Amino acid sequence: MKQTYISDISKHLGEDITIKGWLYNKRSSGKLGFLEVRDGSGIIQGVVSKKDVSDETWESTERVTQESSIIVTGVPREHPKKPGVYEMDIKTLEIVNLTGEYPITPKEHGVEFLMDHRHLWLRSRRQHAILKVRHTIIKSVRDFFDNNGFTLCDTPIFTPAACEGTSTLFEVNYFDDEKAYLSQSGQLYNEATAAAFGKVYCFGPTFRAEKSKTRRHLTEFWMVEPEVAYAKLDDVMELAENFISYIVSRVLETRQEELKVLERDISKLEAIVPPFPRLQYDDAAKMLQQAHAEGKVEHRFEWGGDLGAPDETYISSQYDKPVMVHRYPAEVKAFYMEPDPQRADLALCVDVLAPEGYGEIIGGGERMSSHELLLQRIHEHQLPPEAFDWYLDLRKYGSVPHGGFGMGIERCVTWLCGIEHVRETIPFPRMLYRLKP
Ligand code: 4AD
Ligand code: MG
Repeated sequence: MKQTYISDISKHLGEDITIKGWLYNKRSSGKLGFLEVRDGSGIIQGVVSKKDVSDETWESTERVTQESSIIVTGVPREHPKKPGVYEMDIKTLEIVNLTGEYPITPKEHGVEFLMDHRHLWLRSRRQHAILKVRHTIIKSVRDFFDNNGFTLCDTPIFTPAACEGTSTLFEVNYFDDEKAYLSQSGQLYNEATAAAFGKVYCFGPTFRAEKSKTRRHLTEFWMVEPEVAYAKLDDVMELAENFISYIVSRVLETRQEELKVLERDISKLEAIVPPFPRLQYDDAAKMLQQAHAEGKVEHRFEWGGDLGAPDETYISSQYDKPVMVHRYPAEVKAFYMEPDPQRADLALCVDVLAPEGYGEIIGGGERMSSHELLLQRIHEHQLPPEAFDWYLDLRKYGSVPHGGFGMGIERCVTWLCGIEHVRETIPFPRMLYRLKP
């Protein structure tokens, strides 16, 4: 018989169908078996009645264990008391592979144990919900750019030089003792393709040798980065707020069920519509100093430093929408930032901090367009100029103001799912001390 997916079950009520999947959970009471069957697309409760099935099926019902692979046939119907919830009267149950002691049981397990069993943990309801949200975020990211005149131009992973500071580079041996680095960001290449295509984006894995063990950091994460020729800082901010609002609306539209599994307060997400507040770094510094004076944050923030995680958490908790902090001191930002013409010590950059204390999800800004100044910055940052000759060319041949940003997908998933830690937002997270499975 043809296989039906649980996600399509409402179209097959009253019909004889076959589901191919696994046993999620089981309860039985003498003459009745209640099997939660999952097939990747959803979970449905199946009811086996001893008196209505063959001895063989009843014997399988008693024998089948959690996460055994099974094929069941039966007739789905709507739950008598819960509209929109479906159940299935099972007629036959075939065990494809009987699972022995399954390591993950419905009881509580420690996080390290679950992380060690990530390959199995992915089957659980909560992990399934998070990765479905991730899927929708990625789809809407692509749709947003594809529908707004952007061209996808993917950037290389092996690169000859740093983009985001030399302290988080992963070095690999290329050929003949040449050193290469895993990309920290596709931005520099985006700047080249933006001069060719006007509006571009790249989307791929990026790598940071982050020695910090925080709930926001992965060593391998997926970043989407748009870049736009002739864009100024204000255009970049407008693009970021429209982009984020679009993603949130799509997740709300299509992932209600998953958000429910995650017990997400969706009213918080429904508030995410343009415009987003803009906060100059100077004012963010004042806000943090004020909070310190009032005893709301522990350390006193000094003007000139980068915002740390606790600073971002405090600022973002003051707003119910993402807040765009712009014009940081150039000192704390990357070498390629365009200086503010009003105040050369500030960079025309923006960090978007997600609400509810989630902190930075986007970093970006306007890029330096002067050849001379850029070369000077490369020297100041002690970067090898020969690795950047091609990048400098972009300032020699038709240089224009331009800008863009990067969003870490996992940070976005963490926020939209309302969960604690980025480690659950990617199928197989890579972190300090975590390379397996
Ligand atoms: O702020 P970042 O370092 O900016 C850039 O890389 C720019 N070159 C992007 C651009 O303008 N095209 O990183 C951008 C985003 C951060 O806001 C964050 O969401 C994510 O990438 N990110 C990380 N996510 C998980 N783990 C890490 N270690 C991350 N580092 C950055
Ligand atoms: Mg940043």
